[in-house]
Amino acid sequence: MASELNINICIDVLDSMDELSEQERQAMELAQQAANDAYAPYSNFLVGSALVLEDGTLFKGSNQENAAYPSGLCAERTALFAMSAYHPNKKIKLIAVTARRRSEQHFLPAMPCGACRQVMAEYEHKQQEPIPVLLQGPEGKFYRCRSVGDLLPFQFTKDHL
Ligand code: THU
Repeated sequence: MASELNINICIDVLDSMDELSEQERQAMELAQQAANDAYAPYSNFLVGSALVLEDGTLFKGSNQENAAYPSGLCAERTALFAMSAYHPNKKIKLIAVTARRRSEQHFLPAMPCGACRQVMAEYEHKQQEPIPVLLQGPEGKFYRCRSVGDLLPFQFTKDHL
């Protein structure tokens, strides 16, 4: 008989900004500001991402769209690739992500797409230390995932090559 493999993922649900640590709050506020910089004339869906590096450096990114749709890039990968280009050897301590529609001020749940999870997984694997991911959740809540591994089980890494 086939056996079952159960994967347990624990996500902290934080009811408001007040429940975030100082560093998490800073990162989420930077992600919220970064969403204003999005170049999203096609979707009008503004995504902001912020990274905290091990030395406290903050880094931000926003989605960058293109008339040739697949040539655009999500906010998370914009931030991660820029971070790795500027600071190739620094570890990432936190990734924060948020989103909103251009016509509205309130923030919406921001769930990273599969490609962004894969890229996060690459850097988590590289630094051999979990990267917590703080996501804007519904109704002003926040979801804190303790690692990228929790967002992407059974991931493909360089060990599989
Ligand atoms: N988007 C992101 O920036 N991050 C994600 O994880 C999901 C989607 C962007 C891509 C596109 O510019 C817009 O949101 C609508 O899909």
